[in-house]
Amino acid sequence: MIPEPLRHELEQRIQQAVTPREAAVDVMKELQRHYGWLTDEAVREAAELLGLSPLQVEELATFYEMIYRRPVGRHVIHVCDSISCWSMGGETLLKQFEKLLGIKTGTTTLDGLFTLLPCCCLGNCGNAPAVMVGERLFGPLTPASSQALLEELRTTETV
Ligand code: FES
Repeated sequence: MIPEPLRHELEQRIQQAVTPREAAVDVMKELQRHYGWLTDEAVREAAELLGLSPLQVEELATFYEMIYRRPVGRHVIHVCDSISCWSMGGETLLKQFEKLLGIKTGTTTLDGLFTLLPCCCLGNCGNAPAVMVGERLFGPLTPASSQALLEELRTTETV
């Protein structure tokens, strides 16, 4: 259930938007932040707030790769696999994260700390190969700096 202060804040954001759909990503992201992922309950709540059907919210949610419809770890590491990053070693970087975390891409570490996902261009091509964790961009990452990043994230609540 959405806490009243968050509900109030979301209602205000929706009112400021030209159309409710325009606020949909914001609403989904905030509910995701609250629940840890976009639960079925969150989809229903977002639909109610936005005046959309749950199916319409579901469609939007599955379109955005930063919206998670399954439980994820505390930190979701998005490794860019688009052309600039790929040409600068993005594939090797992804393998490096798999090795360091002991998981396959698309899964979560047993301790629930990390989820590893590929993603489309992050708009950080000049710093390829690039990664996004939470709202933060990182790059260019090397095997050494990717290890240092994990060490930093292990001691961080959220980024
Ligand atoms: S191609 Fe990776 S950030 Fe653009």
